[in-house]
Amino acid sequence: MKKIQHKDLLAIYKREQQHLMSAIKNGSDPYHFFSLSTINNQIASSRMVVLRSIQLNPFKIFFNCDVRSPKAKQLKEKNECMALFYNQNRRIQIRMNCIAILHYNNNLSEQIWDKTPLQSRKCYMGDFNPSNTIKEWNPNVPFNYIDRDPDKNESSKGYKNFVHVELSIVNCDILELHYDGHVRFMINNNEEVSFLAP
Ligand SMILES: Cc1cc2nc3c(=O)[nH]c(=O)nc-3n(C[C@H](O)[C@H](O)[C@H](O)COP(=O)(O)O)c2cc1C
Repeated sequence: MKKIQHKDLLAIYKREQQHLMSAIKNGSDPYHFFSLSTINNQIASSRMVVLRSIQLNPFKIFFNCDVRSPKAKQLKEKNECMALFYNQNRRIQIRMNCIAILHYNNNLSEQIWDKTPLQSRKCYMGDFNPSNTIKEWNPNVPFNYIDRDPDKNESSKGYKNFVHVELSIVNCDILELHYDGHVRFMINNNEEVSFLAP
């Protein structure tokens, strides 16, 4: 029978951080996306977002969103949130308790916006507040940019709606599913590890 020891857990954690790192530029990696849960008036609200970057020591992950969106408003209201990743091929779930910091119209958001492709900038140029009810179909991208990208100057209109969100990881609950015994543990941002019952 296999035996998993305390020292193996830190190695799993470090390995998963590397998987997250390599998923940033790989849209077909399941870790390229994660489910983000926020609190909206004491009720949970979840949605998928794209993992844009990761930082180690201290461990942080980042995504982008529209400042007008409910998720941005909810994070401003309550910065505690949860990020959930699952790789169905390797059968690993990572659940992260996080604290959000919204980078809006500051040095970091400007740096990230500068590196954002023109095609992606379109998403921040819509007239409607994301998630608002609308009378008829509208992709919420200016119609003249549906089949072409704005130029750099035109795209700057989107910057006022752009937020780069930093999530500081408070702790991670990692679950590996195995036919010969699941492995589950909690690790906090001081890298203190405890086994959890799967
Ligand atoms: C695969 C996928 C990736 C997405 N990535 C993002 C993202 O990175 N940022 C974002 O704001 N919305 C993203 N969305 C849209 C959100 O899931 C959500 O529908 C939208 O942002 C409205 O969320 P809210 O009303 O909770 O703010 C993505 C949706 C899917 C299906």
